Amino acid sequence: MSDYKFIAGDKKWWRQAVVYQIYPRSFADLNGDGIGDLAGIIDRVPYLKSLSIDAVWLSPFYPSELADGGYDVADYRNVDPRIGTLEEFDKLIEELHKVEIRVFVDIVPNHSSDQHEWFQAALKAGRGSPERERYIFHDGLGENGDIRPSELISHFGPTGWTRVTEPDGTPGQWYLHLFAPEQPDFNWDNQEVRADFIETLRFWSDRGVDGFRIDVAHALTKDFSDGLPARETMDIDPKKPDGSDPLFDRDEVHEIYREWRKVFNEYDPPRVAVAEASAPAHRLGAYASEETLGQAFNFDLLHADWDTKRFKQLISNSMKRAEKSGSSNTWVLSNHDVVRHPTRYGLPDKTDLVKWYISEGKSAPLDAKQGIDRARASTMLILALPGSTYLYQGEELGLFEVADTPREAMQDPQWFRNPGKSRSRDGCRIPLPWAISGSSFGFGPGGSHLPQPADFGKYSVAANEADPNSVLNLYRTAIAMRKGLQCAEEIKFIFNWNRNVLHFARPNGWQSFTNFGKSPVKLPTGKVLLSSQPLVGSQVPGETTVWIQA
Ligand code: BGC
Repeated sequence: MSDYKFIAGDKKWWRQAVVYQIYPRSFADLNGDGIGDLAGIIDRVPYLKSLSIDAVWLSPFYPSELADGGYDVADYRNVDPRIGTLEEFDKLIEELHKVEIRVFVDIVPNHSSDQHEWFQAALKAGRGSPERERYIFHDGLGENGDIRPSELISHFGPTGWTRVTEPDGTPGQWYLHLFAPEQPDFNWDNQEVRADFIETLRFWSDRGVDGFRIDVAHALTKDFSDGLPARETMDIDPKKPDGSDPLFDRDEVHEIYREWRKVFNEYDPPRVAVAEASAPAHRLGAYASEETLGQAFNFDLLHADWDTKRFKQLISNSMKRAEKSGSSNTWVLSNHDVVRHPTRYGLPDKTDLVKWYISEGKSAPLDAKQGIDRARASTMLILALPGSTYLYQGEELGLFEVADTPREAMQDPQWFRNPGKSRSRDGCRIPLPWAISGSSFGFGPGGSHLPQPADFGKYSVAANEADPNSVLNLYRTAIAMRKGLQCAEEIKFIFNWNRNVLHFARPNGWQSFTNFGKSPVKLPTGKVLLSSQPLVGSQVPGETTVWIQA
């Protein structure tokens, strides 16, 4: 168990933290089986330290049949043997804490894997049993029960119900899954389910975990008193924005999080949590309250065009929301579910990303320079804003989305279950390149579980380190500098006649100035601290952010 002291007494460390998301299977593979492992992360702790991040968030590393990249958890209180052991997990926490990096783990409470012992027990125990009560089983419609209980489409399509075979071999009941069939939804009205997650939160908190990222936090409680839900689309957003949707963002979900908060507050410092909740903006604050999870992701920038007005509006809205909820802002440009932002910014505006992916990147031209310039500028912009910044592994290397992964190598259920209608998220989960050449570009000695593109070496850590102007060096400098500049969670926008400029100041005089346009604009007065592109005399080049001390 880790004995770290650096955070003693600091209960607010999370409010303006830089959190780096690790997708463990694709980070670093030390044992050479082609799958990233905990030993690989331990080996790269010096690299993580070199980023000056405050915390890492580990996407699921639990035992899983990998029907959904590990978001199908077979045992919530263990480590997938392909990834490591609990002892290695303890060692990882210890090594990270030694260098003052805190650790978030992912909690996936809406559904388990169908390999989870409870689901297996539910299959064996049959209709009406207490074992089935932990999940959502219903009889089918029609004389023989062979019509699914409702017309519900799952997020991964095409249906949210799967029929089981009863212990006596006859076709039986159906169970609900908002995601893949291998991810049966829990019944959160069941007290055993509630108690088990409390045990899981304590289990990891006792091992020294500092925080939790809560997967699909808005979906746990469901209410079918008006009949089983029918939905024609794959969204996971509530259709009713007032807490009364049968599936999503129901008011009662916060009873669960209030219980969890009591557990978090048993620890010193209190454990923290961030909700991944697809809820209307005015309802996100309920997840971010200090009585519930404390923080909620704001995903607005994942869908925002490169546009000054849009960015300004989203920032203002987020600031207002944070003030209202008492939580801090969260800023995200990339994660393991979305197209990497240098690609989004390098494609023409309004590109249909699904079509683009399906065409293997041929349906629209990628302007790589524009993508990287904008990515550098937007990273500096969000790092200057009050609140937490969540980074996704590989963005610090300037990685683009990989759209031409051989189709037979794909792993994402979103791809298989919706032929021709979805993109695969494998494109942002390609194992990281560490070396310019060699076996899987330094990811590991035994190849890589998803194929890497032939030119991956040029984005490697080694290639980035060799170039003083690389994306990695910009991230390192900017994150370290931000630490020294951090101050009260406030900003004031500074008016500029040029509608391509977004300029704001923090209370200590730290200013961020972004030129969203293509043409250079005049640099404001003040001491230049850092620029995402070299300045040209007193001009800020296009698609550049500059930090200034007034
Ligand atoms: C995760 C996805 C996952 C889904 C189901 C999402 O919120 O980020 O990667 O497929 O939940 O667990």
